[in-house]
Amino acid sequence: MKWYDIFANFYDNSLEKLYLSSRKRAIEILELKPHQNILDIACGTGANFKHIKNAQPSVKIFGTDFSEGMLRKCKNNIDKNNWNDIFIFQEDAQLLSPNFIEKHLGTQTKFDNIICGLGLSVIPNWELVLNNMLDLLQENGKIVIIDVYAEKRDFNTWLVEKIAKADLDRKIWQTLELKTLNFYQEYLPIKENKVGGKLFVAMGTKK
Ligand SMILES: C[S@@+](CC[C@H](N)C(=O)[O-])C[C@H]1O[C@@H](n2cnc3c(N)ncnc32)[C@H](O)[C@@H]1O
Repeated sequence: MKWYDIFANFYDNSLEKLYLSSRKRAIEILELKPHQNILDIACGTGANFKHIKNAQPSVKIFGTDFSEGMLRKCKNNIDKNNWNDIFIFQEDAQLLSPNFIEKHLGTQTKFDNIICGLGLSVIPNWELVLNNMLDLLQENGKIVIIDVYAEKRDFNTWLVEKIAKADLDRKIWQTLELKTLNFYQEYLPIKENKVGGKLFVAMGTKK
């Protein structure tokens, strides 16, 4: 996680404008209900949190990431906004299971919603993480993914992959579609050269 510990220092300033519309859209299509909970996997600096709070202030947020540096920024973000109902913890998403959640939260918890923004293109065993998400969801719970897919590879794809330590060849939405019901996907109108490929949001409900 060394690279993301360093990247944390300039992550929000360099990237936030590009991904803003995808965060808003991902949270909009979840149609969050009052007092639900949401787990943000690979939450980074917590860039999704304000959009979740804007959409539904009573939703309880749990954030997890493997990078200490990203989580430090996330904690600053939480403190700055005086959010006292957001809980964050450090964990490898590939190891997340109901037992690990109990270890961190002190109680058995399943989630109404899980969001993962720009995490599945980075985490090596992303298919395992998708399976973990399904194990952690309540019945009829929803997963929403924000990510990028490079249909045509070019220099920008290479650059984004280098900077983000990502693999933009992964057809993440296809696996989500296979594993969930009510699958939905849309592309955001962001220029491909800015993010290295096609920026999409995809959602599915637990079978
Ligand atoms: C491109 S950033 C996305 C951060 C945030 N979700 C966002 O939308 O801005 C990728 C994140 O994945 C995290 N990450 C990488 N490998 C991970 C792993 N094995 N488990 C959990 N988080 C991981 C990094 O620390 C980083 O915060």
